[in-house]
Amino acid sequence: MLSVDALTKSFGSKRAVDTVGFTVDKPMMIGVIGRSGAGKSTLLRMINRLSDATSGSIRFEGEEITTLKGAKRRAWQSRCAMIFQQFNLVPRMDVVSNVLHGTLNRRSTLATMFNLYPQADIHKSIDILDRLGIAEQAAKRAEALSGGQQQRVAIARALMQDPQMILADEPIASLDPMNAQIVMEALRRIYEEDGRMVITNLHTLDTARRYCDRVIGMRDGRIVFDGTPEQLTTGVARDIYGAGADFSEAATSTEIETLNTQTAQRPVPA
Ligand SMILES: Nc1ncnc2c1ncn2[C@@H]1O[C@H](COP(=O)(O)OP(=O)(O)O)[C@@H](O)[C@H]1O
Ligand SMILES: [Mg+2]
Repeated sequence: MLSVDALTKSFGSKRAVDTVGFTVDKPMMIGVIGRSGAGKSTLLRMINRLSDATSGSIRFEGEEITTLKGAKRRAWQSRCAMIFQQFNLVPRMDVVSNVLHGTLNRRSTLATMFNLYPQADIHKSIDILDRLGIAEQAAKRAEALSGGQQQRVAIARALMQDPQMILADEPIASLDPMNAQIVMEALRRIYEEDGRMVITNLHTLDTARRYCDRVIGMRDGRIVFDGTPEQLTTGVARDIYGAGADFSEAATSTEIETLNTQTAQRPVPA
């Protein structure tokens, strides 16, 4: 389905992503972990074509993605919607209009200029908001919502494109634990119920373990781990976060305990 091969991104002499390769055969929920600067965002941005690869290949259902141009590149971007830590909504615009922005790629400039949205799209946006539990916020300005609600609006906007894949770049990094859980559960449901692939960058092991089927660990631009949450042992975590790491960047004290006793068990997602 998705096949990444020797993917590299250089900034000057620095390789932000260094000969990265992995394949995904069927939709699943993948967590990409690693400390700050490991290359997680750069990897997702290359998959979405927000950023061009320096070398290497990304194939999706047989099609080479790295070389797509113009309309084909935009079409690809609507098949793999991106979600960001800072939500990237238009703050003063109402929630529904923000969600309808997810259809921008397929609307004419004229329709966009005059804010003409087809009725069907408006209904669809309300249905999606309803599914995410925030339909009652539809008429409010985005800026009036809590962070967790705003991130759900961003997810709704992504779903408006009916994407095959959702790429989320630290979607819960700005949220409190309660909202983080709501957003991760929403992403998990989008995978389980819709069969959309989800690749999400996460700062902490804990979240990856709890919600993901597969975890990719990056360090200095390279993949140093690729396996199931169960395979993520203390030694592996050290590889990812660096020798002698106290996991302070990565883990809560409970996680460190779990790692240290190596009895880590993945909780069953609610
Ligand atoms: N636009 C850029 N110009 C120069 N260096 C960059 C740029 N984007 C990222 N980098 C560098 O690439 C490395 C990986 O960054 P990034 O992908 O943002 O890591 P992560 O998301 O894991 O924190 C870092 O060393 C970062 O400083
Ligand atoms: Mg990042």
